[in-house]
Amino acid sequence: MKSPQFFYSLGSSFLYDALIARFFTPFRQESFESLDVQANETVLIAGAGTGLDFPHVPKEGNFIAFDLNEGMLKQAQKRKRENISLVRTDCHTLPFQDATFDKVSCFLIVSIIPSPELFFAELHRVLKPGGRIVVFDKFYEGQNNPLLNAINLIASRVASNINFNFSDFSERELAQSFKITADEGKALSGYFRFIQLERLP
Ligand SMILES: C[S@@+](CC[C@H](N)C(=O)[O-])C[C@H]1O[C@@H](n2cnc3c(N)ncnc32)[C@H](O)[C@@H]1O
Repeated sequence: MKSPQFFYSLGSSFLYDALIARFFTPFRQESFESLDVQANETVLIAGAGTGLDFPHVPKEGNFIAFDLNEGMLKQAQKRKRENISLVRTDCHTLPFQDATFDKVSCFLIVSIIPSPELFFAELHRVLKPGGRIVVFDKFYEGQNNPLLNAINLIASRVASNINFNFSDFSERELAQSFKITADEGKALSGYFRFIQLERLP
């Protein structure tokens, strides 16, 4: 299973941060506020990239951030705080024991990986019962659109799936394993969404 890496290989240059940083800053803050991390909790930061989330990570709590791309992790190392550890791994096979985490932050990762099915199966395994996930990403909830499908043939190979329908996916794949507790459109007329999930036993 091959993740798109072309765009993320730019992580070792200034380009990724220049393109991504400013627009998403308020949503990163909101994402960590809604995680509401307590001092005794362990939190997974999935696909941490260059660590743009790290300035929003609370001082309390224990955070493990992972990414597949070495260049991204090199940049993330510079932003790392004391309560954050970095791990290089593929999200489809997480190197953590069952029921390790209280919460997970998935900021701009779900729509770019080849198998969200496998990723959420892994999240279900590594989360404690009742554990929570906050997802922020772009999800296309409209009608099947041939133009978007055509553009997506390229987009999904170099950077990201641009017409991933999370509602369909969650009904099909997550109904037995997670409860959706919130789903709120944010930027670009709701294309970017905050979705919160709770792990079912
Ligand atoms: C759009 S970036 C988002 C990074 C960061 N969350 C942010 O908000 O800036 C997606 C990240 O997912 C990472 N990634 C892609 N495929 C992955 C995989 N299979 N396992 C782990 N990380 C992956 C990429 O290297 C990239 O850093």
